[in-house]
Amino acid sequence: MAILDRFRLSGRVAVVTGGAGPLLGSSITAALAEAGATVVTASRSLERNQQFAEALQARGHDAHAMQVDIASVRSIDQLHRQVLQRFGRIDVLVNNAVARSGHAGGFLDQTPDRLAAVAAGDFQGLFRICQRFIADMAQQRRGSIINIASIYGVVANDPTIYSGTGMVQPPSYNFVKAGMINFTRYLATYYGRHGVRANCISPGGYREDQPRAFVERYESRVPLGRMLGHDDIQGAVVFLASDASSYVTGLNLFVDGGWTCL
Ligand SMILES: NC(=O)c1ccc[n+]([C@@H]2O[C@H](COP(=O)([O-])OP(=O)(O)OC[C@H]3O[C@@H](n4cnc5c(N)ncnc54)[C@H](OP(=O)(O)O)[C@@H]3O)[C@@H](O)[C@H]2O)c1
Repeated sequence: MAILDRFRLSGRVAVVTGGAGPLLGSSITAALAEAGATVVTASRSLERNQQFAEALQARGHDAHAMQVDIASVRSIDQLHRQVLQRFGRIDVLVNNAVARSGHAGGFLDQTPDRLAAVAAGDFQGLFRICQRFIADMAQQRRGSIINIASIYGVVANDPTIYSGTGMVQPPSYNFVKAGMINFTRYLATYYGRHGVRANCISPGGYREDQPRAFVERYESRVPLGRMLGHDDIQGAVVFLASDASSYVTGLNLFVDGGWTCL
C-alpha cells in the first residue's frame, strides 16, 4: 500500500473521550475525522458533543455524539453498548478525558474527596473503558488504543516557572499520568498477539490564557521556543491510530517541543 494511504482511517470507528474539549479533545477528534474515520465524541455534556459532531458533519465528516462520565462504571458500560450497537465495531479508542476536578490544589490540599474523583475517573474509569473495548478489539484482531498522558507522567514540574503566577500543580496528576504510561505498556505486551496496539502520547503544555510570566518562562525553556498549539497533536494521533504505525506498540510519543530532552 502507498505510504500516504496507510495513514487513512476510512472504514474505521474511533471513540474519543472528552472529544469535544476546546483544547486537545477537539483537535484529536477532528484529525481522526479528517483522516476518514467514523468518530464518536463522548463526554458528560451531550449537548457540547452534539454541537461539535454537527460542526464536523457540516465539513463532510462522519461524526457522532454520545454521553459518558469516565468516573462512572455504569456510564462507561453504557457507552460501550451504544457504540457496539450502533457501529458493530471499534478500531480506535482515545482516552483523552481527565478527571480535572480532582486534580486541584497542591500536595497538602489534595483532599480525600478530590483524590476519590481522580481514582474514579483516571484509575477505575481508564481501566474499565480499556477492559470493555479491548475485548472487542481482540475479537476483531485489530485495534489501537491511544492514551493521552503528559510530560508530567515522565518528568516533574519545574516549580520556578509557576512561581508567583497563582498556578498550582497537584501531584495526583503526575501520579495518574505516570501510571497511565506503564499501564499502556502492559496492554501492549498482553494484547499485541491479539492484534491490538496500545500507545501513549505525552503532550507538553497547551498555550491558552495562562499568565504571561508563566508563558514566557515556559517558552524560554522549551527547545522549540513555544507552547503546544491546537493542531500540534494531530499528526501523532493519526499516525498511532492508523496502519502507518502497524509495528509500533507500547510507545510513549512525546509531543512536547523537546521539553523532556532537558
Ligand atoms: N491542556 C494541556 O496543556 C495538556 C498537556 C498535557 C496533557 N494534557 C492531557 O490532554 C488531555 C485533554 O486535556 P485538555 O486540557 O486538552 O482538555 P480538553 O481535551 O480540551 O477537554 C477535556 C474534556 O474532557 C471532558 N471530561 C472531563 N471530565 C470528564 C469525565 N468525568 N467524563 C467524561 N469526560 C470528561 C470534558 O468535557 P465534559 O465537561 O463535557 O465532560 C472536557 O471537555 C488530558 O488527558 C490531559 O491530561 C493536556
